[in-house]
Amino acid sequence: MTDTPFTPRVFSGIQPSGNLTLGNYLGAVRRFVEMQNSGIETIYCMVDMHAITVWQDPGDLRRRTRELAAAYLACGLDPKKSILFNQSQVPAHAELGWVLNCVTRLGWMNRMTQFKDKAGKNAEKMSLGLYAYPSLMAADILAYKATHVPVGEDQKQHVELTRDIANKFNHDYKVNFFPEPEPIIEGAATRVMSLRDGSKKMSKSDPSDMSRINMMDDADTIAKKIRKAKTDPEPLPDNLDDLAGRPEARNLINIYAGISGQTPEAVIAEVAGQQFGQFKPLLADLAVAHLSPIANEMHRLMGDVSEIDRILGDGANRAAEIAEPILAEVFDIVGFVRSR
Ligand code: TYM
Repeated sequence: MTDTPFTPRVFSGIQPSGNLTLGNYLGAVRRFVEMQNSGIETIYCMVDMHAITVWQDPGDLRRRTRELAAAYLACGLDPKKSILFNQSQVPAHAELGWVLNCVTRLGWMNRMTQFKDKAGKNAEKMSLGLYAYPSLMAADILAYKATHVPVGEDQKQHVELTRDIANKFNHDYKVNFFPEPEPIIEGAATRVMSLRDGSKKMSKSDPSDMSRINMMDDADTIAKKIRKAKTDPEPLPDNLDDLAGRPEARNLINIYAGISGQTPEAVIAEVAGQQFGQFKPLLADLAVAHLSPIANEMHRLMGDVSEIDRILGDGANRAAEIAEPILAEVFDIVGFVRSR
């Protein structure tokens, strides 16, 4: 990690807008756990306010928020070491979000590729929240003056925007108040692709469940999805360069590497010459052995929702303790009269 004059602090979040996928796990949650265990203060959020930028059934949102909390815990996040909470419970996110809406320029928002992807040709029918989403994300990070943000590749642009927003705030108000947070995009699987189409990212919102592995899938389902994953008829080569133009094959190698903790180079050397008929069962066994204990633990934790809510409530109190004084300073900086 590079030096900054700010105390290192990690913040990241995941939307409880669908089933947590293998992409979220390899791209984000595994990094969260590593960073938790590296001795830096770590804050991980279930961003329910971001989720409602597109329609969420209220009952589903409640269940998915708790399932995401269960996933955090089952994957190794420890509420004694990390602060775990849901965004809506700490009002500083929304309040700082408003101030940052007034710093962020429309031109910057118009460049956000995720909005364009999500809105497609229907931009006029999308919520204002979806458009403003990246400035709320900046508020999530900056409410804690976080310096490091572990994310998958697809969130890089949003973290870079956060840097621009922090910089403009500092510049406009002539302060050195916010750090410019760094995206941490590491590991073999920073962009896990759909199992049905190697040109599309694996996503919790893809209409096809066969396109993704969900963290609560059972062993048979995981094995079936890998068996049916789109591939090509060629055997696997002995180096990554020869996978150019074979995105589905490359994706499965990356997934294998991501789960096993090896580099893709090491994996391809190991499986060189194999047909997918050989490689897929290896991958399925690896995935099942790794993911089944997590799924079992998630099911167990979901049996005691009140314990999950207790952990989230405690996390929200601790998060608010950090964010509230920072927000109070922001109010002073921008000139809000504090009358109570
Ligand atoms: P979200 O909920 O879409 O995804 C959560 C995390 O998972 C990563 N990810 C992936 N990584 C690799 N391969 C994939 N196929 C894949 N799909 C998702 C994402 O990059 C992300 O790290 N805007 C964020 C949530 C957010 C946030 C924040 C993140 C809100 N506030 C503040 C960091 C800091 C999002 O929609 O992630």
